[in-house]
Amino acid sequence: MSLFGEEYTADPHPALAELREAGPVHRVTSAAGVPFWMVTRWDEARQVLTDPSLSKRQPVDQLPASLRPALATQMLLRDPPDHTRLRRLVSAAFTPRRTRELTPAIERITDRLLDELGAAPEPDLIAGFAVPLPFEVICELLGVPPRERAPLRAWSDTIIVGGPAPADMVAAMSGMVTYFGDLLARKRADPEDDLLGALLTMADEGDRLSGDELVGMALLLLIAGHETTANLIGNAVHLLCRMPARPDRPTAAVVEEVLRMASPAATSTYRVTTRPLTLGTVTIPAGEQVLVSLLAANRDPERFTDPDTFDPDRGDGGHLAFGHGIHFCLGAPLARLEAGIALDRLFARHPDLEAAVPPEDLRWRSGLLMHGLAALPVRLGRPP
Ligand code: HEM
Repeated sequence: MSLFGEEYTADPHPALAELREAGPVHRVTSAAGVPFWMVTRWDEARQVLTDPSLSKRQPVDQLPASLRPALATQMLLRDPPDHTRLRRLVSAAFTPRRTRELTPAIERITDRLLDELGAAPEPDLIAGFAVPLPFEVICELLGVPPRERAPLRAWSDTIIVGGPAPADMVAAMSGMVTYFGDLLARKRADPEDDLLGALLTMADEGDRLSGDELVGMALLLLIAGHETTANLIGNAVHLLCRMPARPDRPTAAVVEEVLRMASPAATSTYRVTTRPLTLGTVTIPAGEQVLVSLLAANRDPERFTDPDTFDPDRGDGGHLAFGHGIHFCLGAPLARLEAGIALDRLFARHPDLEAAVPPEDLRWRSGLLMHGLAALPVRLGRPP
């Protein structure tokens, strides 16, 4: 089965199971003709995500010159020692406390979106809830003023959904780079107690975070935290709606099981070999691109008992939905907090919520990198 057709997009698991059974790693050619290696088993996935000989550097020379400095400095595309420095700095500002303190804002945004959602007869849970919630939350975290969010949202959507032409993507990126450069300048002049404010203070204490790195970090947080969390919320509602006896209140264990069963970041784990790498019986030469399929690794029967069964009480932990090793998702606590609040409040308000279309008619976002629904029409049912 192909990894690029509509069939794969609608249900990637049969193709991934076939590959995983055949071996831990496979040479694949993308639809655009680019060859890469895809890792499908849990052991080898962990090996790749922790092996320091694999690099995250991606060539940025195809990008317009104005975008290169901010994009090339993002820590998701850097190796130690640069990555170590950037990660240490942002971790000092993006603390567990800062995440916890977002709770009232998340609750407020969730309730507002639920009020708006209730006005439509068969609302789309993705466009009306799963996508705007993480966007608004990241804006709160970064300190983007509410009246400035609309264009940012439009650029972000273009980057997530893809505009009609590649030029739209570049325009959206450029818009964001210019916007965050300007916002940072304003915050430098008039410091505020938000994440960008905290990062600016650090940058100003020495030359540890450059201006480009700050813009790159803002962009990375916005993009990395938006579509992934939207997919988590959407995939969770989808899976819960299909359950014959769904739990009354989705627990933290339910969120973890959704992360394992329907890993939102699917295959977004780019690496490149810098020397030959042996995985099982296969040796990948130096200079080759490697992608770990988190979706496949998280259903590896060698690691998880009955991997295709949704069982929040399985207790065997260890899913790789947030990656592993030095690039382990920085926003995992925030994503878990958001999904917990979103699902709890959604099902408390609409205990009879159900999907308005059968699973086979759902539209998924195309592409190998992410796993999420393009739309999820629902019937909210009577309030309790
Ligand atoms: C990294 C998944 C939410 C910020 C990663 C990686 C994965 C991931 C798999 C590692 C990629 C790799 O190793 O190549 C997810 C999922 C999320 C989510 C599934 C939601 C369900 C968030 C949020 C934020 C965030 C809410 C920020 C507000 C980041 C950052 C990195 C990252 C900054 C790069 C870390 C580094 O390079 O050291 N994420 N993410 N993510 N994520 Fe998330």
